[in-house]
Amino acid sequence: MADYIRALEPITTPAQLERTKELIRQFTAPQGLGPRLHQYLLDKREAEDNWAYYYWLNEMYMNIRIPLPINSNPGMVFPPRRFKTVHDVAHFAARLLDGILSHREMLDSGELPLERAASREKNQPLCMAQYYRLLGSCRRPGVEQDSQFLPSRERVNDEDRHVVVICRNQMYCVVLQANDRGKLSESEIASQILYVLSDAPCLPAKPAPVGLLTAEPRSRWARDREMLQQDERNQRNLELIETAQVVLCLDEPLAGNFNARGFTGATPTVHRAGDRDETNMAHEMIHGGGSEYNSGNRWFDKTMQLIICTDGTWGLCYEHSCSEGIAVVQLLEKIYKNIEDHPAEDNGLPQHHLPPPERLEWHVNQPLQLRFGQASQSVDKCIDDLDFYVYRYQSYGKTFIKSCQVSPDVYIQLALQLAHYKLYGHLVATYESASTRRFLHGRVDCIRAASTEALEWAKAMCQGEGANVALESDREEEEESRKVKFSIYSKDHLRELFRCAVARQTEVMVKNILGNGIDIPLLGLREASIEVTGEMHELFKDESYNISQCFLLSTSQVACSTDSFMGYGPVTPRGYGCSYNPQPEQIVFCVSAFYSCEDTSASRYAKSLQDSLDIMRDLLQN
Ligand code: COA
Repeated sequence: MADYIRALEPITTPAQLERTKELIRQFTAPQGLGPRLHQYLLDKREAEDNWAYYYWLNEMYMNIRIPLPINSNPGMVFPPRRFKTVHDVAHFAARLLDGILSHREMLDSGELPLERAASREKNQPLCMAQYYRLLGSCRRPGVEQDSQFLPSRERVNDEDRHVVVICRNQMYCVVLQANDRGKLSESEIASQILYVLSDAPCLPAKPAPVGLLTAEPRSRWARDREMLQQDERNQRNLELIETAQVVLCLDEPLAGNFNARGFTGATPTVHRAGDRDETNMAHEMIHGGGSEYNSGNRWFDKTMQLIICTDGTWGLCYEHSCSEGIAVVQLLEKIYKNIEDHPAEDNGLPQHHLPPPERLEWHVNQPLQLRFGQASQSVDKCIDDLDFYVYRYQSYGKTFIKSCQVSPDVYIQLALQLAHYKLYGHLVATYESASTRRFLHGRVDCIRAASTEALEWAKAMCQGEGANVALESDREEEEESRKVKFSIYSKDHLRELFRCAVARQTEVMVKNILGNGIDIPLLGLREASIEVTGEMHELFKDESYNISQCFLLSTSQVACSTDSFMGYGPVTPRGYGCSYNPQPEQIVFCVSAFYSCEDTSASRYAKSLQDSLDIMRDLLQN
């Protein structure tokens, strides 16, 4: 509770904080409800592998009713390929799928190596459960609450292995390994993909975009799914999709209007595919580009959707409830590096006489037919509202930060705080995911980077001037005035404040990853209050609690060892999402906001980040 009060200090008013302190006094008094609930959770801990797991899973995913694309599923972009012919597309897809199959075999044989913590109480073993949920799993919509279809670890050895390939909204079941004919070779898989690539465009009409329904609000999609299930053929299709190892989406390129907008002063892109920049590629991975492009060429409930576009862009969209990004990134990077290290010798026409993959035909009744128009409109509206910006900060990266004896993660979190303060003159509840895999079934807790120490430092860096809410046209003047006022505090003083902010942020980070964060215990107490008394305690209806839970800045480090990056949308309509990938000499940020919110702008936040990182370097250099 002391840590909770500390986390509230920089983001609440004195009156709000006083009221919360009073509620906490009542809650924690020996005769208050707090001690009883705490004991309730201790008993639960004795009885279960991980007392927090289902509280957390439901809170973060299963109870959330808004659509998966943008709001929940992250998208990941890999360095684009060069495809000369459609055979190249098929061969690359085959290599990825072959890698997936080999990984599946490794999981089945129990040879997946146990990972250990690389820092802070080094070598502690990490829970590997997430890795076993990546393949062959799927989320299922429910009217009240979603659920997960998870692969059974007992049945693994006597099953066929298949994937579902989607091209121009047509779905095909490609069997990669069958009990009666063994595993397909890479070239055989390529021939199956080639069949899909040539069959789908030749079919008389584009089919109903059933996949688009998975982009709808969850309760809506649950009802549509019930309607679909009334037909036996549809039921079987759904089962094939859910049990598929992965879904592979063969896409058409998006138009240039998805390229980065605003903030032209930087070098926002390194990779290009034709006219498309990295922001454009990220849009494709996160939502598919709308009903006109590839959003119907998806199954957003599927844990892993590999996406390959004919122009060489490729990556992943993944449903988040089964696993954090790290496990997904590691799996795909392993497969990708293997492809890079062992270039294929021959991408010629594969000659095989396998039966062609089965095309999934849907029976869509009249009421469902009507739903596609509505679903197209609603997904297109959401996509139009997404303000996304992939920003590569190239002046320095982890190497410089480490040379300042600061943890790179802590440093970047403080840069994110400063960037926010520069724009708005205050800090907001900030979420950073902290892995808690040192615990069985541990997922994440929340590192709260908005601290009083960060606020004091940010204020001093901006001379306590308050919000820089200037429009773009006013910015130059603003920047000039800021430069002049910068000398109000000595560099020594600013450095001292920075050290205090670093110390606090480091302490919060370490507490979290060692299992002493505040958000999971608070969630536990909240849920326990409902289970024990039938209603939620006042502490969780409090204004401060609501402020603390509305993450106007939602961040996470997604470190990649290849030149790839992962991004996602904001978690509230007025907020920012910001993932970052710190590399030795640069940091890749994926900033998101919603156009419908007048106060936010992804490119302005990126620009503010650039300014913040620049002045931090000036402060710490030498
Ligand atoms: N001086 C110099 N170097 C330092 C340092 C210091 N004071 N503190 C740390 N470093 C070094 C570390 O030794 C490490 O070195 P390495 O690159 O050789 O491994 C490096 O800096 C990075 O460490 P740091 O930035 O402190 O953080 P981290 O890599 O341990 O990451 C978290 C911190 C919180 C991001 C991580 O623990 C975590 O939880 N990751 C999961 C996040 C997640 O779930 N993301 C996906 C969400 S979908």
